Amino acid sequence: MLKLFGALVLVGLALACLASWVLESYDTSWHPKRSVPQFNAGDGEEARTCLPPYPGGELDNIFWFVQVSDIHISRFHDKKRIYDFEKFCTNTVEVIQPALVLATGDLTDAKTESKVGSLQHEVEWQAYHDILKRSRVLERTKWIDIRGNHDAFNIISLDSVNNYYRKYSANQKVGSFHYVHKTPFGNYSFICADATITPGPKRPYNFYGILNQTQMDLLASFRTESHSSNQTIWFGHYTTSTVISPFPGLRGVMSSAVAYLCGHLHTLGGLMPVLHSRHPEGHPGTGAR
Ligand SMILES: *[C@@H]1O[C@H](CO)[C@@H](O)[C@H](O)[C@H]1NC(C)=O
Ligand SMILES: *[C@@H]1O[C@H](CO)[C@@H](O)[C@H](O)[C@H]1NC(C)=O
Ligand SMILES: *[C@@H]1O[C@H](CO)[C@@H](O)[C@H](O)[C@H]1NC(C)=O
Repeated sequence: MLKLFGALVLVGLALACLASWVLESYDTSWHPKRSVPQFNAGDGEEARTCLPPYPGGELDNIFWFVQVSDIHISRFHDKKRIYDFEKFCTNTVEVIQPALVLATGDLTDAKTESKVGSLQHEVEWQAYHDILKRSRVLERTKWIDIRGNHDAFNIISLDSVNNYYRKYSANQKVGSFHYVHKTPFGNYSFICADATITPGPKRPYNFYGILNQTQMDLLASFRTESHSSNQTIWFGHYTTSTVISPFPGLRGVMSSAVAYLCGHLHTLGGLMPVLHSRHPEGHPGTGAR
């Protein structure tokens, strides 16, 4: 019996490794079928009632923000990422002038040179930090960067010296939080659902995120708080399909939100070019890179 159980565990682990390898290793940044997510308020049966004010010819009652995800700054692979990221912080943010930027995790790659193992490299975090400093992007927009699974590889405790997120990120906040963006015309809630596992296991054992009951209760309290805001956006690193959480689940707790923005899954070599969906619970979810 014990043998059979052991064999099942081995098979399970092998499948988990394979799934995470397949989903993680394919990577294309461009696909012809890739489309822009549509957030039509009057979409389908679950049309929300549209109350005034409506968007018009002026910039009244409008603000915009940008989401970037899975930057994966790496000391070994694709050095161009560092250059691209600096260009984004300097030129792109200058042109778009977003009210805020959500960087939804995997800020660094944290892999070994062979790509098989995982390791936190201080130089990757320093590169990230230097770009934030040099570009002075933090002075030009509200920069909210959260952890992804790569940022938590091999971290025994949050106080570990190799928890570089604590030292080099702009946000340095571990765990879920609620940020309210205040404008003259309304208040807008941004709720981060942090399902990153602590202690952070090695690759590939943190492909799934977990929210325990305490963390779900905290999210439910943010949801209640956010009822006094005009709109609510949720964000996190993991897609809702890769988060394990108790009832009512992550999708349930954020069902009244405008959208859930995440990263984590890439486009699977073009097999999954469309990284947005409308869940039965109502809100659209998107993954971005
Ligand atoms: C935001 O909510 C306040 C209070 O309910 C309301 O007065 C205001 O018009 C709302 N703003 C927008 C842009 O809908
Ligand atoms: C936004 O929140 C502040 C309190 O933090 C409140 O005083 C203000 O009336 C709110 N604005 C709107 C439009 O609801
Ligand atoms: C839930 O997870 C948090 C963060 O990892 C941890 O601090 C807390 O002790 C956990 N609570 C329970 C009941 O497991």
